[in-house]
Amino acid sequence: MQIRLDKFLADAGIGTRREVKSIIKKKAVTVNGDCVVKPETKVDPDTDEVSVNGSSVSPRGTVTYLLHKPAGYVCATEDSRFPTVMELVPRGRDLFPVGRLDKDTEGLLLITNDGAMAHRMLSPRSHVDKTYLAVLDRPAEEKYAVLFEKGVEIGDDTPTLPAKFEICDMRHPALEYLPEEYRINLNPGQAVLLTIHEGRYHQVKRMFQAVGREVIYLKRVSFGQLVLPLSLKKGEAVLCQPDLQSS
Ligand code: URA
Repeated sequence: MQIRLDKFLADAGIGTRREVKSIIKKKAVTVNGDCVVKPETKVDPDTDEVSVNGSSVSPRGTVTYLLHKPAGYVCATEDSRFPTVMELVPRGRDLFPVGRLDKDTEGLLLITNDGAMAHRMLSPRSHVDKTYLAVLDRPAEEKYAVLFEKGVEIGDDTPTLPAKFEICDMRHPALEYLPEEYRINLNPGQAVLLTIHEGRYHQVKRMFQAVGREVIYLKRVSFGQLVLPLSLKKGEAVLCQPDLQSS
């Protein structure tokens, strides 16, 4: 059955009817590869391929944004004290953040209305990798690789699961993610990458505390198969379709 394009996009959670009309008029929407500017255009949700800004919109009615979370925002749907990450994506029905980053942590955050996908991404059984770029108060030591691989005590019932640690040399591509003020003042050994597949409270900060270092800057640069695009500015979001199959 064919339905109007603006209804299709609103039902998919892209925004309110008024918001999606404006998105369509801005020439951001294609149907089977052709740009469409009329909200009343009829589409068949079963056969037509609808995309917004190049990202395909799921006919299942689910929507997922990949947000470059800036510091200062909390990962909650509502908060009485601080701005929430929900303010950074178009309003849509039933959207929620997939897991949490601390208020002062930046980086890749998914916001979705797809409960099943969120569960798969967060379930400890799925072992989905999360990679963080951290700047430490003092240079890291090579031995952390062995310690984190074994697991460290961070004050919970069990030690952390094996994690992968790498010190970034001064030409490491990941340093591109650092804000200017950290990049220009960086000492060798101070920037590190840590890949974990758990999601304990303050986990990265507590793992470095356990080896005598303080995290002074933290950014998530990947989550499963998804990598934070270098071109995505802080506070910007793009539609995406997390695909666990290949992770
Ligand atoms: N680990 C932390 O310590 N903070 C985060 O925000 C995410 C992982």
